[in-house]
Amino acid sequence: MRYLLGLDVSTTGSKALLIDERGAVCASHTTPHPSHQPRPLWSEQDPADWWSGIVQSIRAALAEIDDPGAIQAIGLTGQMHGLVCLDAEGNVLRPAILWNDQRTQAECDEITETIGARRLIELTGNRALTGFTAPKILWVRKHEPDVYAKIAHILLPKDFIRFKLTGEYATDLAGAAGTLLLNVARREWSSEVVDALGIPAEWLPPVHEGPQVTGVVSAAAAEETGLRAGTPVVGGGGDQAAQATGVGAVEPGIVALTVGTSGVVFAPLASYAYEPDGRLHAFCHAVPGHWHFMGVMLSAAGSLQWYRDTLCPGEEFGPLTEEAADVPPGAEGLTFLPYLTGERTPHPDPLARGAFVGLTSRHTRKHMTRAVLEGVAFGLRDSFELIKQSDAGRYVREIRVSGGGARSAVWRQIFADVFGVPLVVVKALEGAAYGAALLAGVGGGVWPDVPTAARQTVELGERVEPGANAGAYEAAYQLYRDLYPLLKPVFERQAEI
Ligand code: XUL
Repeated sequence: MRYLLGLDVSTTGSKALLIDERGAVCASHTTPHPSHQPRPLWSEQDPADWWSGIVQSIRAALAEIDDPGAIQAIGLTGQMHGLVCLDAEGNVLRPAILWNDQRTQAECDEITETIGARRLIELTGNRALTGFTAPKILWVRKHEPDVYAKIAHILLPKDFIRFKLTGEYATDLAGAAGTLLLNVARREWSSEVVDALGIPAEWLPPVHEGPQVTGVVSAAAAEETGLRAGTPVVGGGGDQAAQATGVGAVEPGIVALTVGTSGVVFAPLASYAYEPDGRLHAFCHAVPGHWHFMGVMLSAAGSLQWYRDTLCPGEEFGPLTEEAADVPPGAEGLTFLPYLTGERTPHPDPLARGAFVGLTSRHTRKHMTRAVLEGVAFGLRDSFELIKQSDAGRYVREIRVSGGGARSAVWRQIFADVFGVPLVVVKALEGAAYGAALLAGVGGGVWPDVPTAARQTVELGERVEPGANAGAYEAAYQLYRDLYPLLKPVFERQAEI
């Protein structure tokens, strides 16, 4: 039996997933790692914690198979956009600054001014957002000149693991697209952006397609992890591209909807396109020569989790969401805005806030639950509407839903009704690590290409058709859309207070 190893450095833990060549899961271990918020808006982690966590997870996974030597290849995935600064000897210079860090608004404004909003979107497929990597580099230059002076290499979180495993500085195109330094159309670093921002080009690692081999496990890493020295390590992908790969959203027409803490609508593209206002992200896919549009909601199942923990502590999610089943669509005039941690798509606004609008004494807990489920679906429909209007829109034929939120039958039906299209549930319990393992399988010669790997492994489940309620949501959705612009000045005043 041949095995494939997917490694995922997520925000909460380091996972090692072993699958066999039929795609069956053989072992999965996750070692949690801490996050630090040393100041308001900051979010950091210690790369040493990722490495010790991944070593522990790899060792635990290897213990469950007879022959670790039978691992054909390793694929990497992980949280995108994070900044790891290394000196010339490969030592970490400061804690990694993560994707959800919000300290860089001034640097984002500077980037937009230097390059011009239109040109930036044209080249990089994106607006300058606080979470992205380039503004973080500028922040270190301005605020930590001593650190900046020692930088010789810039890496993304998963690429730090690659460096520890292989000794190579390298990254994948899906991850590189999230730095704001890539010419996304040409799938190479943008000398125009890099030069305009004054970032030394030699700091940036070579870029690779997802299944391309970037190096092999070194003797030192083999000693530490128990892996066979010489095992190939492929490019892999940022967590969203790897997640999409793992549910088979690898060709135009199949859209992935992921309802995790954050919510994502991901649409593959066969040629580069960007949304003129940069409200959708346009990134490289982990599938060679492909791109994708993506809308990101920051608190999707995270909104339900907050609601449950705060207002219904101790309740199980299943019964709680079931309770909302007999509330009519629109929750009898109650609307929830899910911007609990700011928002990205379609309102890139760190100051946006959550709200229940329209409460009356008639409303009960189950109305509030229903409003939360609907508000998240409305917010993700905003992304879907942008995708439908884009180049990806004319192909949409199926939406594949995965993530913790997809476990609720009530929520699945609300998504199908609010989106107005059938949803197919995917059993994707291992998330991005599964996609990374598939990319390893392509690089390791188990499958000829990514679509074949996905076709042969991804397990499709229930199909949910839009029901009789679908039309009933239109007025409630329009009302939802009207609320953010009305409340934006209120959110700004609340932030000042
Ligand atoms: C993608 C994004 C998140 C992070 C953390 O743009 O910000 O998916 O990668 O998971």
